[in-house]
Amino acid sequence: MTEQRVADLVLDGVGHTYRSAGQAPVEALAATDLTIRAGEFVALVGPSGCGKSTLLEIVAGLRPPAHGRVLLGDAQVVGPGRRRGVVFQQSSSLLPWRTVAGNVALGLELARVPRARRAERVAAELARVGLADVADRAVYELSGGMQQRAQIARALAADPDVLLLDEPFGALDTFTRERLQEELRGIWRETGTTVLLVTHSVEEAVLLATRVIVFSPRPGTVVGDHRIDFTRRDEPAAVLRADPEFVAFAARLRASIGTTHA
Ligand SMILES: Nc1ncnc2c1ncn2[C@@H]1O[C@H](COP(=O)(O)OP(=O)(O)OP(=O)(O)O)[C@@H](O)[C@H]1O
Ligand SMILES: [Mg+2]
Repeated sequence: MTEQRVADLVLDGVGHTYRSAGQAPVEALAATDLTIRAGEFVALVGPSGCGKSTLLEIVAGLRPPAHGRVLLGDAQVVGPGRRRGVVFQQSSSLLPWRTVAGNVALGLELARVPRARRAERVAAELARVGLADVADRAVYELSGGMQQRAQIARALAADPDVLLLDEPFGALDTFTRERLQEELRGIWRETGTTVLLVTHSVEEAVLLATRVIVFSPRPGTVVGDHRIDFTRRDEPAAVLRADPEFVAFAARLRASIGTTHA
C-alpha cells in the first residue's frame, strides 16, 4: 500500500550566485518561490545553464543558497539528509572502491541502520532496479545504465520523502532510458515519494510528471507551471508515446516553452 507522505517541499526566495576569486560573479538562479506538494512528481525543464542543477544541489542540502531557504515540512534544509535521496547528472558519484551493494548501503550506514536491516533494504532496492545479480561486483564493471540504476537504488534505499533526480537518464541509449523511465513510474506509484526530476526532454517530462515547471535562461526563474493531466496516463509508456492525446499534449507544452528541446 502506498504510504502517506506529509512533508511539502517549499522553496522560499531561493537564489544563487557563484562567486570565485578573480572572476565576475555568475548569477545562476534568481530568487525562486515554489511549493511542491508531498507525493507530486515535478519535472524541471529549461535551457542549459539556467541553474537547474544548482537548484537541485540546494534542495539536496549540498550547496547553501546565496539567499532564501528550503523547507521540507517544518524543517529547514541545512545539509544533506536521509529524507532526500539524490541521483546526480553523472554516475561518477558512486564510490569506486565499494561494491555495488556497498554503494547502495552507504546512506543506511551513515544513518546507523543495523546490519541485518541494511542488508535487507539493499537487496530489495537492487532487486527493484534489476541489479540483484551484480551486487558484489565493482562499480567500474557496470555499464553506464547499470551505474545509473545503482545510483537510483542508493537513493531509494533510505526510503526518502523526496527523490531528486538530475537528468538521470541523459547519457543512456534510448532502450535503457525507456526501461528506466518505466521503472521510475512504477517506483513513484509504489512508494508515494515526492519526485523532482530535471530533464531536457519535454516528452520525458510529460510521460513521467504530474506537473512541469519551466525555467527561463540564466539566471533561472520560473516562467511556466503546467499540470500534466491527460486521460490515459496510467497506460504503459509504449502505449502512451503513440497516443494522440499524449503527443498533442507534449507538442503544446513544447510550443509554450518556445524551445527546440526534444
Ligand atoms: N561551481 C561553479 N562555479 C561557478 N559557476 C558555476 C558553478 N556551477 C555552475 N556554475 C554556473 O552556473 C550556471 C548554472 O549552472 P547549472 O549547472 O545549475 O545549470 P543547469 O541548468 O543544470 O545546466 P545543464 O542543463 O547544462 O545541466 C551556469 O552558468 C554555470 O556555468
Ligand atoms: Mg545541470
